[in-house]
Amino acid sequence: MPLLFKGVKELRNHINSIRKQEKASVGFVPTMGFLHDGHKELIRTSKLQNDLTVVSIFVNPMQFGEGEDYDRYPRDLDRDLAICEEEGVDIVFAPPVEKMYPEGFRTEVVVKGIEDILEGKFRQGHFRGVATVVLKLLNIVNPNRAYFGEKDYQQLKIIERMVTDLNLPVEVVSVPIVREEDGLAYSSRNTYLSEEERESALSIYRSFLLAQKLIKNGNLEAENIKVAIREFILSHPNVKKIDYVEITDENLNRKDIIESGDRILVAVWVGNTRLIDNWKVEV
Ligand code: PAJ
Repeated sequence: MPLLFKGVKELRNHINSIRKQEKASVGFVPTMGFLHDGHKELIRTSKLQNDLTVVSIFVNPMQFGEGEDYDRYPRDLDRDLAICEEEGVDIVFAPPVEKMYPEGFRTEVVVKGIEDILEGKFRQGHFRGVATVVLKLLNIVNPNRAYFGEKDYQQLKIIERMVTDLNLPVEVVSVPIVREEDGLAYSSRNTYLSEEERESALSIYRSFLLAQKLIKNGNLEAENIKVAIREFILSHPNVKKIDYVEITDENLNRKDIIESGDRILVAVWVGNTRLIDNWKVEV
């Protein structure tokens, strides 16, 4: 079984004492739990690159807006602990909210300019919540490396910026998106989808394949590709609306003419579930 810690001090003391004895390298995988194969890939990468792997499980209230799914976000610590055991995780940090946000908490981390575009436009304050909790977790765990999925591409870019800007002594390692066999990107939020909705959600991945084909055939105008993606996704039942379809360079700057390495980023409502996904373009 992985060692489970709920308190900040206890976790810190434990990691510090191991570090002193063994000079072990520490890999850290921050999550909100309800672990799936995407999380497992981050854990496996960390296991390959470090002596010790720490996973945090914390549904961070600060990154959820009013009316979002904080209350109904899936939680199952026993299930997560069993998965961590199977994967050989050494330490799990699962603090209660009061330990992360004790009374009087007032600090926010703002990564200006990239936190208010794309996702940030539709989820105001979301990335302040993410950056703040990730900085706190990095300070608590003090890892050599921290692992983030490309599934949340904008989040990854914001964390990379924060780590550089604040001189944090950690290496950010990114891991490509893990998809189910039929192409749906793993997400804890997929549990909200009915069978029918899940079928419609596949349109996201299929729209990327369609876009990729159009691009390979020489259609390099971002506007045309975005329209094709929108039309394709919207032609499916249960798709309520599209928050955005955008094509950017790898640093999230909007593109007019598509080049290799650019990203297609989308946020789509299927029923009452908001899904995000992205695709790295090859020309
Ligand atoms: P969560 O959604 O649980 O995701 C934890 C990590 O797993 C993130 O880095 C995310 O990008 C990665 N991940 C999720 N699905 C993935 C997939 N299908 N393929 C590859 N990686 C995937 O992201 C968060 O939690 C939170 O915002 C957090 C960083 C923990 C801060 O609260």
